[in-house]
Amino acid sequence: MCGIVGYVGKHKAVSILIEGLNRLEYRGYDSAGVAIQQNGRIEVAKKAGRVANLAREAAKHHFTGTAGISHTRWATHGGVTDANAHPHLSSDDKIALVHNGVVENYDAIKRFLLAKGYTFKSETDTEVLTNLVAYHYTKETTVEGESRFLEAVRKTLYHVEGTYGIAVLCSDFPGEIVAARKGSPLILGVGQDENIIASDVSALVSRTQRVVYLKDGEIVHVTARDFSITTLDQADVSPVIDKVTWSIESAEMGAHAHFMEKEIFEQATALENAMRGRFSEDGSTANFGGLNLNAADFRAIDRFVFCSCGSAWHACLVAEHLIERFARVPVEVDYASEFRYRNSPLDPHSLFFVISQSGETIDTLAALREAKRKGYKVMAICNGVGSTIAREADGGIYQHAGPEIGVASTKAFTSQLLISAMFALYVARMRDMSFSDGVHYVNALKATPDLVRRTLEQAPRIREIAKRYAKYNDFLFLGRLSLFPIALEGALKLKEISYIHAEGYPAAEMKHGPIALISEECPSVFFVPKGEIFNKLVSSMQEIKARKGKIIAIVTEGCELPPGLADEIIPIPDCHEATLPVIATVPVQLLSYYIAVERGCDVDKPRNLAKSVTVE
Ligand code: AGP
Repeated sequence: MCGIVGYVGKHKAVSILIEGLNRLEYRGYDSAGVAIQQNGRIEVAKKAGRVANLAREAAKHHFTGTAGISHTRWATHGGVTDANAHPHLSSDDKIALVHNGVVENYDAIKRFLLAKGYTFKSETDTEVLTNLVAYHYTKETTVEGESRFLEAVRKTLYHVEGTYGIAVLCSDFPGEIVAARKGSPLILGVGQDENIIASDVSALVSRTQRVVYLKDGEIVHVTARDFSITTLDQADVSPVIDKVTWSIESAEMGAHAHFMEKEIFEQATALENAMRGRFSEDGSTANFGGLNLNAADFRAIDRFVFCSCGSAWHACLVAEHLIERFARVPVEVDYASEFRYRNSPLDPHSLFFVISQSGETIDTLAALREAKRKGYKVMAICNGVGSTIAREADGGIYQHAGPEIGVASTKAFTSQLLISAMFALYVARMRDMSFSDGVHYVNALKATPDLVRRTLEQAPRIREIAKRYAKYNDFLFLGRLSLFPIALEGALKLKEISYIHAEGYPAAEMKHGPIALISEECPSVFFVPKGEIFNKLVSSMQEIKARKGKIIAIVTEGCELPPGLADEIIPIPDCHEATLPVIATVPVQLLSYYIAVERGCDVDKPRNLAKSVTVE
């Protein structure tokens, strides 16, 4: 939900920190700040607004220090103000701290610290952490060996309930950073005579591709040339240094106007990456190296449970449709945030799946942990390599979609849909699907990237439609069967980047209430694919037309609609039933993108949102 960058090395820290914040700004952009160690003390510059605001403010300080921490904020406690921006300095100016997460017991800690004479300048929960570190730092120390600074942070974290990713400076320990995580991601970038702490890889990959993914409950003590990791109860941790497999260029916007546009147009490549090396030699099924379950295990499964949030939850609904349609295995889908408290009675032979682009969504992580607590194996379909969800799952399928910077998920979503289709095939071919049907299905999957490229050729037409429809403030998105989740996704895309009220419905359900919304001021986006219910969909469109509702119809090429029924037609190529959700998603991504651009919205950083929701 927020972005953290810490640097210690031989270069001026401020420019490296601000460059890192620019790459993390999609995680939160309400305010930003830096704290730099220099001249025996810690200097702080912080401002409400974007990182660009901070850069201008920081320039006034002429920072020269080579160690510092920084933060870009998505507000949880306290409004969007300069005072509430991180870093927070302790009231004795000795400790500076940045935090991603929520301190659930901050009120009790604050009352304790106020009684000890500490003062507070902000409304945030984070400031209690800063003063609590200062409190422990100034008390008599007893722990042999480790620095007072590290001990003070460790003792502070013992008292914290909630989640944190933190980076801390102490004015008495120049050139040192202490960082720790519990529930919020934190990565250590191991450089050449420099080390970097960051919330995700994109902030450090331009300086090093050697990374250590910190785990919950770990504390890292960092200097320019060294680092050491321990657990909260002081056990040493042997670090595993991973290599990042993508370059910073893949996180650049290139010639595109927005990351979202870039990511919409690179979907075909993302889909090719999702399939690479994942088909059987006989070409009749899919193969996944990371599921860590064999065919016998899968034969014994009689139900799948999928949990996720947002767009990933829509992908779960598509997975449900495809697995039940092709593998004939029952599937349950639940919002992750609901599952973890609903205490659903689960079938003992269930296999649990979570889908998450970031791999850090705390509601999804909590559902994963709840399922594991109940003894279920959990698989993760995830784009975030080395992310918390990827590491805590018992197995899974990496999406290999590359970094997705735009807050509105696009390439990661269609990648999840394709992987769900591949998984449905994998299970179906273990059961009743024939070899020839499997080969046909595999060929359809392989053809999908080119069909997406063909659909993207509709972009100019869709942009013109968007110009005509950007003025409306209400939309319905209507689809059936596997395209009902795509109707939900289309509505979510429009909502989150253009702030237009939009609702997705099963098309036939519209006459049970939502049709009351239909008027000339409430257009409908209708998915009308070739198939057995094509005429039923036409009937639903007639009901809307009879009430003067405008219709944007997404129709399979070659399917003729009655003349005048649709006000706009967006053709999509004919395709296999299993890949239809992928193809049908592309037009609504483009429509929402172009409408948002037409309305002058900040497409990549929509108001109130963040790319990865790491608070409950
Ligand atoms: C999608 O456009 C949204 N940004 C949001 O709904 C997102 O899908 C959701 O927060 C889940 O994120 P995850 O896939 O990283 O877990």
